Amino acid sequence: MITAIESTISYGATATSSFTIVPTECDPYAYQSGWGNRFACEALPGTLPQGRNTPQRCKYDLFSEQLNGTPFVSARASQLHAWFYRIRPSVAHGPLRKSPLNGKLEARFSASNTNTQYIPQDHSWGQFLLPSAADSVDFVQGLRTVGGHGDAMTKDGLAVHVYTANRSMEKTAFCNNDGDFLILPQEGRLDIQTEFGNMMVRPGELAVIPAGIRFRVRLPDHTARGYIQEIFGSHYELPELGPVGSNGMAMPRDFEYPLASFDVDQTAWTIICKLAGQLYEYEQDHTPFDVVAWHGNYAPYKYAMEKFINTATVDREQSDPSIYCVLMAKSRTPGLALTELLVFTPRWSVPSNTFRPPYYHRNVCTELMGMIYGTWHGSSTVLEPGGLTYEPSLMPHGESYERWAEATSGVLEPERVNEGAMAFMLHIPGHISLTNWALESSGTLHAIQADLWTGFDGGFMEHTEQVDQELAACGLPGLAKPSTGHAAPPKAP
Ligand SMILES: [Fe+2]
Repeated sequence: MITAIESTISYGATATSSFTIVPTECDPYAYQSGWGNRFACEALPGTLPQGRNTPQRCKYDLFSEQLNGTPFVSARASQLHAWFYRIRPSVAHGPLRKSPLNGKLEARFSASNTNTQYIPQDHSWGQFLLPSAADSVDFVQGLRTVGGHGDAMTKDGLAVHVYTANRSMEKTAFCNNDGDFLILPQEGRLDIQTEFGNMMVRPGELAVIPAGIRFRVRLPDHTARGYIQEIFGSHYELPELGPVGSNGMAMPRDFEYPLASFDVDQTAWTIICKLAGQLYEYEQDHTPFDVVAWHGNYAPYKYAMEKFINTATVDREQSDPSIYCVLMAKSRTPGLALTELLVFTPRWSVPSNTFRPPYYHRNVCTELMGMIYGTWHGSSTVLEPGGLTYEPSLMPHGESYERWAEATSGVLEPERVNEGAMAFMLHIPGHISLTNWALESSGTLHAIQADLWTGFDGGFMEHTEQVDQELAACGLPGLAKPSTGHAAPPKAP
């Protein structure tokens, strides 16, 4: 009889919390995951109000404060906001003044801005220079604008920056009121403390800090270099999947969000704000990182780009590079992106009877490419880790003649490409103006390769006899042959 009772007992287990990404050797922080979720997180149990956002008095006398990234009257699906429960409200600070920390930032791109230039010529830069040991440069001081389009004040456009630094921000926090930062470290990890919690971001990962969020950057590896794309008036989104279906590309579950974390620190801090590319600062007598609990969907996040699922043709032909799109942002024009971030990671290349390198093209989008690590083989333009290439809108580019000859005559076998490498492209449907700093002062601009596109002799000319024969067979006149003599000049009227 005992045996019969045991056979009716069921076994199992129940989760005690939602999934959390746990710390690793190179990242001491835990994260909650899932793109665009409305997270709820408290560093002290019971500090998140239940059933309301603004109780008459919050637990422990915390202050409730809302931060939003969309206007109140927005479509529900697009609403972005968060509620903080913090030791002091953000408004508790001293008067504002202009900051002398960095005058190399631009947020207004037009032909009338003499700090920038529109040039329809491709350019490339070698590794952007780290500060010398004699200089002490933090993340904010080391930001340099490379180029952009539009205007932060009309909330339409974007800027591309690079950063180099060799000093952690100390009792200083940065708040960008101009737009959202997409940060791509290339050298050195960034230990980013935000009002929402902490993120350790390494080369190969991206981080997004939406506008208006205060953060500071510390350098556990002592030096840092990387790229930033800042978007005005828009926010990053995952691209539509279309016929790809519900799996592939960047998986929503792989986006990591910080957990609430607060400091009790009543010492002097400086907050630096960026507006219209100008820096301002104010003092306060406590840390800005005093958020005990928060909930909402307007929050910073990170993503390991090695996790990107590549999708490409397995038969013939080339897919458009949009299949490498990790994140995009919408422009004000329905159906038109403001920008797309494409990432190039190791994958198989298998198409048969196909020209496999990038075909020759004139792209309506401006292309800015950077290299995180490894070696780039996909373009004639020099691209090295920590450097940058620029292909202006509608200007032609492609492969060298030698690479064309190689690609059109080799035996096509399945091959691994981009092994051990990661590159990215900012695909921007607009004309980009480059800053005077990028063109004149960065110290790493490569000279224009005047002979890059020589060698294209036009193999067609070697086939004219055969062409004439085939035209004749069709009853058509042959190709016009150039005359051997000099044509007489036209008579004057
Ligand atoms: Fe291109």
